[in-house]
Amino acid sequence: MILITGGTGYIGSHTAVKLIEQNEDIIILDNLYNSKSEVIDSIETITGKRPKFYQTDLLDINGLEQIFKENKIDCVIHFAGLKAVGESVAQPLKYFNNNITGTINLLMAMQKYNCKKIIFSSSATVYGTTQIMPLTENSPLGVTNPYGRTKLVIEDMLKDLANADNEFCIILLRYFNPIGANQSNLIGENPNGIPNNLMPYICKVAKGELPELNVFGNDYDTVDGTGVRDYIHVEDLAIGHVKAYNKIKSNNGLHIYNLGTGNGYSVLQVISSFEKANNIKINYNIAPRRTGDVATVYADTKKAEVELDFKAKYGIEEMCRDSWNFYRNI
Ligand code: NAD
Ligand code: UFG
Repeated sequence: MILITGGTGYIGSHTAVKLIEQNEDIIILDNLYNSKSEVIDSIETITGKRPKFYQTDLLDINGLEQIFKENKIDCVIHFAGLKAVGESVAQPLKYFNNNITGTINLLMAMQKYNCKKIIFSSSATVYGTTQIMPLTENSPLGVTNPYGRTKLVIEDMLKDLANADNEFCIILLRYFNPIGANQSNLIGENPNGIPNNLMPYICKVAKGELPELNVFGNDYDTVDGTGVRDYIHVEDLAIGHVKAYNKIKSNNGLHIYNLGTGNGYSVLQVISSFEKANNIKINYNIAPRRTGDVATVYADTKKAEVELDFKAKYGIEEMCRDSWNFYRNI
């Protein structure tokens, strides 16, 4: 039995679908802080199977232990966490408490109930402002904001745990920039308020909910001066988790993998891919650089390819098509 924390969220829900499609037994835990319980209905509609759901907060130790008591959990896929970089700068303690304390509670419960396999949602943000691309799993680490710090602290805690107890198997997955949605259009990314991230912002402009996109800087040392990122379809990312689960079943120790495509696209290239894929014009203007942004980020994907047999298959236009198909239907 696999416990998916944060399983009604964006990436967790897509992964839940893929695991059910592989006939795995899953349980979802989420406090619904940033997602809705209807996602469980959507997962059932897509897969024909309704996962067991606990509306539980990782900060509620008793509630958490109850889940381990009631179910024989062999592996945890740990998505639950807060992820808004700007909010983390304004409210670091909220992030440290939710993400770090929440993870400690989870690990203590796992140890108590002898569950020693965990796949953790880390991020390319742990590479800080390293300039040398592509980023390999051995590139230098560093952080630029409290959200990133929570990821790095949790990675370090998990490394210590793997050193202390060699029965643990831990996989750290460093995601690059997930976009897109399941082709059912029933699950996808729908942040509240004004989005921080590029693709949800573009979708809101496309739908007329926001007037225009601010392109943060056009004087970077990139193909057209705008920031370059490694966008990965969330369906590919979900498959990456299935591959990681297949590996964790029969391995010990700690393993780290980038999950990206290895290709970088600039903001203007994403806009034109979106326009082409969906036949919609996106209004934008060039705005100043956003503090903390770097010019270019993309992954070296070889390790995941060799050790997990994972290779992303969707291209940027398919990602733009699926993001929009989900967003225009809600
Ligand atoms: P999301 O907000 O859609 O999903 C996270 C889920 O966790 C939400 O449903 C939320 O309600 C739940 N949650 C948060 N705190 C909780 C708590 N204390 N107890 C129980 N549930 C809690 O985010 P996502 O985009 O699906 O991201 C999933 C994970 O991947 C996060 O850890 C995030 O930091 C990481 N990540 C995301 C991105 C990205 O761009 N989306 C990039 C790199 C890493
Ligand atoms: N951008 C704009 N306008 C916007 C939003 C973004 O021009 O309104 C630009 C950014 O400057 C950047 C690119 O679009 O060049 C992508 O920005 P995102 O905010 O979508 O993504 P980031 O790469 O900045 O960060 C995201 C997550 C982090 C995560 C990281 C992993 O927000 O939490 O991907 O690489 F760590």
